[in-house]
Amino acid sequence: MQDSIVKLSKASKTFALPEGGTITALGGIDLEVRRNEFLTLLGPSGCGKTTLLHAISGFVDLDAGRIFVDGEDVTQTPPHRRPVNTVFQNYALFPHMSVGDNTGYALDVARVNRAERQERVAAALRMVGLEGLENRRPRQLSGGQQQRVALARAIVARPKLLLLDEPLSALDRNLRQAMQIELKTLQHELGISFMFVTHDQEEALTMSDRVAVLHGGVIQQLDTPRQIYNHPANTFVATFIGASNLFEGRQCSGVVATEDGEVVRLDDAPARPAVQGGTVTAMIRPEQFSLDGPRDAPGLEITVDQVVFVGASFEVLGRTRSGRKLMAQVPASQQAAVALVEQQRRARLTYDPAAVHLIRHSGPQPAAVP
Ligand SMILES: Nc1ncnc2c1ncn2[C@@H]1O[C@H](COP(=O)(O)OP(=O)(O)OP(=O)(O)O)[C@@H](O)[C@H]1O
Ligand SMILES: [Mg+2]
Repeated sequence: MQDSIVKLSKASKTFALPEGGTITALGGIDLEVRRNEFLTLLGPSGCGKTTLLHAISGFVDLDAGRIFVDGEDVTQTPPHRRPVNTVFQNYALFPHMSVGDNTGYALDVARVNRAERQERVAAALRMVGLEGLENRRPRQLSGGQQQRVALARAIVARPKLLLLDEPLSALDRNLRQAMQIELKTLQHELGISFMFVTHDQEEALTMSDRVAVLHGGVIQQLDTPRQIYNHPANTFVATFIGASNLFEGRQCSGVVATEDGEVVRLDDAPARPAVQGGTVTAMIRPEQFSLDGPRDAPGLEITVDQVVFVGASFEVLGRTRSGRKLMAQVPASQQAAVALVEQQRRARLTYDPAAVHLIRHSGPQPAAVP
């Protein structure tokens, strides 16, 4: 048995634009989705997420490259013959059919017997929290309820591979979190492989086995959520996922020195062979800064512009002497230190050199997110 459910090899797609010119939506993508994996595509608007899903489901023809689903080359296979189910971004439901009939549609096509159909439709609607609404028409539902019917319609068929294009985008926060748990449970119980598209980085980090970060039709990094967050491959990933303080400079004798005179200390971990004199970017996540660290810890002096209370933590925003903007996120337990900083309008942000992540500039770096 193949252990990858989807394999893309050099998948490319360029669209001709009505205003003239072309756009590369997929720039030669190589990607394998493992069986039973929850893989998320994350990236800014227009980076190619929907095009990638449509290429797998067959609604977009590739210019070049191949697509395999479950070991079979489906590059030329029409959409309805692919063992794939899709929840589209614009979750169009059949307007003239009830919620129950929309949900059971795939089972009717497959001529599943009546009793089993009823049972599976009811189970799918229960899962998305829509039991009791079987007889409504789509126009009698809210946007979020319609989106959940689209989800029920896709899961009822129990496909090997489920492609979900922002399936929770119309839901409020509580419902969204509840559905995230339901989807993970479903995946676990039914052994379905998921390819999930979201704009929401928190959702991507919490739900996925692996995350593929896309930018300009190219995968920037494909890795576990922890690796993506703690060890971003380039400055685009570092700035797209989470907040970060970046220091581009030269690495020499255990420090990174920026052109504007800042110095970031590094530890001498063996995983960090020195590239003497090479250009690198040091990244310190805001939560790695402390306001009450040891006196001899390395630190950066800032004048404080703003202190923002965000519940479990405070965000301290300020500038170094050279005008570089920095952000620290300190837990609410450092309240006393925060009060002092607010009063003095100055702070020393200390950090542990072991928590500094180095990004090497081996090739051209995609632009960081402003
Ligand atoms: N049929 C088409 N004709 C021309 N250009 C297209 C077509 N479909 C997509 N594009 C362009 O290809 C690029 C990728 O589009 P795609 O829909 O895959 O983005 P996306 O990552 O899903 O974005 P979003 O997060 O906004 O849904 C965009 O620049 C888009 O404008
Ligand atoms: Mg899209």
